[in-house]
Amino acid sequence: MPAHTASELAITMAHVMLPRDGNPMGFVHGGVVAKYIDEAAAVVASRHSRCTVVTRSFDNLEFHNHVAIGNLLLLKTSLNMVGRTSMEIGVRVEEEELTSGRINHIASAYLTFVAVDDKGRPSQVPQALFQTPVELRRNKEAMARRQKRLAKHSHG
Ligand SMILES: CC(C)(COP(=O)(O)OP(=O)(O)OC[C@H]1O[C@@H](n2cnc3c(N)ncnc32)[C@H](O)[C@@H]1OP(=O)(O)O)[C@@H](O)C(=O)NCCC(=O)NCCS
Repeated sequence: MPAHTASELAITMAHVMLPRDGNPMGFVHGGVVAKYIDEAAAVVASRHSRCTVVTRSFDNLEFHNHVAIGNLLLLKTSLNMVGRTSMEIGVRVEEEELTSGRINHIASAYLTFVAVDDKGRPSQVPQALFQTPVELRRNKEAMARRQKRLAKHSHG
């Protein structure tokens, strides 16, 4: 099967934020957003590898703005890097104010997923094609982040 391009896997997931997602002030809990980031990234990793995938790392998550109950949470994903068994997925989180159409940037996150076999051991994944200037830039930046993660890991 020919390798697909990173862009072919990109998806946007959307969720309307409901009262159960937030606090009495009408703001969405950060943990709810984190869960949706993990879920959206897992979909991309699964679509690429067609394997069971587990979250290996979830880089710093900083919230630039709050999300209001009643608005739409948009999770825009990109496959940034494919290793032997791991994949880095980027997720840009936006809030769309449904009454005005205004878009607010909420957070951006990078997650590494590892494909695993039925015993939970890392399993090799197919390569993807990084061809456009945007795909190549994201791939280069993801490789640099991967080096940093592995260096941190090896130094305890
Ligand atoms: C995922 C898991 C099976 C990998 O095991 P491991 O011993 O780290 O396996 P390896 O050392 O062979 O590394 C596997 C891949 O992870 C990458 N990796 C290792 N440390 C990493 C780190 N700190 N951050 C990101 N990726 C990392 C490796 O580079 C390798 O990728 P590659 O094959 O593309 O080069 C194991 O760590 C695990 O089960 N973790 C728990 C996952 C989980 O349950 N997540 C949900 C938590 S609720």
